[in-house]
Amino acid sequence: MRVRASAPGKAILVGEHFVVEGSPAIAVALDVRAHVTVERIEENIVKVISRELGEATYGEHEEEDRLYPVYIAAREVVQRSGEPTGLKITVESDIPPGAGMGSSAAVAVATVAATAKLLGLTLTPDEVAQSALAAEVVVHGKPSGIDPTVSSYGGAILFKKGDKPKRINADFDQIRLVLADSGIQRSTGKLVSKVLETKKKFPGILEPLYRSATELVEKTREALENGDFATVGELMNINHGLLSALGVSNAKLEELVYAAREAGALGSKITGAGGGGMVLALCWKEDAESVCQRLRGLAARIIVTPVSDKGIAYTLEN
Ligand code: PMV
Repeated sequence: MRVRASAPGKAILVGEHFVVEGSPAIAVALDVRAHVTVERIEENIVKVISRELGEATYGEHEEEDRLYPVYIAAREVVQRSGEPTGLKITVESDIPPGAGMGSSAAVAVATVAATAKLLGLTLTPDEVAQSALAAEVVVHGKPSGIDPTVSSYGGAILFKKGDKPKRINADFDQIRLVLADSGIQRSTGKLVSKVLETKKKFPGILEPLYRSATELVEKTREALENGDFATVGELMNINHGLLSALGVSNAKLEELVYAAREAGALGSKITGAGGGGMVLALCWKEDAESVCQRLRGLAARIIVTPVSDKGIAYTLEN
């Protein structure tokens, strides 16, 4: 038997970085997905084959290479099942890696979901996210858990470390997200550490920003529930200012953020760790094309996507 599962990438609407220290954040699932197929093999090893990143085998000799988190995600489930088994895992992801779109989390979530189903375990979305988090720890040290959570649930999620994630009841039908890639590679782990160091150095200056972010996220949630996307955009712009204050913006990201706003986005900001990666612009459906046009030539790549309600999905079994 083979089980194929998929999980979506994500964008953080508001609250990244602040969420690491216990503030809330809101993330949405995107219509861009990672697909993972898992089957048993006779040998007691885990073989990972990635369309994007090549192949690796784990079991006896373990090297912490780029596919290692996929192995960790599967190993979490095998350990939970208490039934050692060899696995072949095939990964196909349409989510650009290392750009703040939650590609590693989506791959981990799909791996956990497919492996659990193959081994006959029934896991809740929270349990899938928790197992996938073990893989995220390998990728970037101190993850808040927001990425695997939104990828498991789909839709829009209010996330706060230690609390049960809450699905936000919002209608995104008339909205498109435009994601513009700065083309600058960055490491989430390093940026998270840098922000935490700055907070340690200037607690009296940064702590008010964390309180401000908490209120900003609460107001964003209200605006989303009321369908007031103009206010959501305004709050995203303020959130961008807070992220700049934390030191995770740069000239390229600012250029993209302002170009999107000038071209008619409701709001635009860094999304994810910053330092590079993607800028997120919230747009009315009918304005998305002119925002894209303005960003073309400035961005290394542009992705336009609706918010997706779909979290984990099983796409094939035989
Ligand atoms: O890895 P990214 O770029 O999707 O960003 C993760 C968001 C942070 O808040 C910076 C870190 C985290 O684990 O929540």
